Amino acid sequence: MINISRRPRRNRKSSAIRDLVQETNLQVSDFIFPMFIQEGISQKVEVKSMPGIYRFSLDNLLEELKEVTDLGIRAIDLFPNYPESKKDRIASESYKEDTFYLKAITAIKDQFPDLAIMTDIAMDPYSSDGHDGLVEDGRILNDATLDILGKMALAQSKAGADILGPSDMMDGRVGYMRSLLDSEGYTDVSIMSYSAKYASAFYGPFRDALESAPKFGDKKSYQMNPANSREALLEAQLDFEEGADMLMVKPALSYLDIIRLLNENFDIPIAAYNVSGEYAMVKAAAQNGWLDGQRAMMEILMSIRRAGAKCILTYFAKEAAVILNGKN
Ligand code: PBG
Repeated sequence: MINISRRPRRNRKSSAIRDLVQETNLQVSDFIFPMFIQEGISQKVEVKSMPGIYRFSLDNLLEELKEVTDLGIRAIDLFPNYPESKKDRIASESYKEDTFYLKAITAIKDQFPDLAIMTDIAMDPYSSDGHDGLVEDGRILNDATLDILGKMALAQSKAGADILGPSDMMDGRVGYMRSLLDSEGYTDVSIMSYSAKYASAFYGPFRDALESAPKFGDKKSYQMNPANSREALLEAQLDFEEGADMLMVKPALSYLDIIRLLNENFDIPIAAYNVSGEYAMVKAAAQNGWLDGQRAMMEILMSIRRAGAKCILTYFAKEAAVILNGKN
């Protein structure tokens, strides 16, 4: 026997003791479930690169939400898929009255008044250029984009959105939206800002889901360089000062250090987006029998919580909820 007084394994000797000393917990109420909705389909359509994730018609979606809420999931993030025919340069479909997306928000709110509905603020699903901002001569115009985002924010608030998620990464958008919302009486509508959103390869499957990939170039003039962390602090500081209620880091898995950095520096809740490509990687490996998908999923979600995110946007929400509910 060797003579050591510290034996960390003593705290791992049984399940009861392991649970007793567990530092981080994961709850179904931590999840925001991103969902896709599409006009003019009668059956749900599976997203090829995201097994188990669908584009829903409004009817399908309301059905699905019964299951989602029965699992204890209390927040969703809704994204619209629009046909090319409705897209234009100025994303006008995003702020017209009574569009499919806006009516869906209202219908969901009516049937599920306790469900928190988050919506997305960016031009890409509605833009013929497939960019998050307004394009002129191949460049993204920051300040002219704010005007469009502002109209979008008001339209979504009026439809019943609880939380707006500006995912566009234009400068000044949080402050612009906040003052516009306040001046129109929407002081209760929250903003979860995509503060540190990186120009990432992990959004690929999402762009399949929305058919919203950029028609030219990339998003590097507005989304952040994956090499930078101090810049994330600046982005977060600005969003905080401009009135964001929650700060988000996206993607999650390759950016756990950024989640931790923001959590240590800001006293408002930090969220993380466990994005489409992170979901697809696990699904693909699991389908090949190369890893245990469920265990990998739970480990990933726990790691995001451990890094300091209070809430997690994740396509795994339903599957993880089933496991968490079984445990309780
Ligand atoms: C669009 C938007 C994107 C995602 C959320 N909002 C894609 C992008 O920026 O190109 C990605 C979500 C995911 O990959 O799961 N503004």
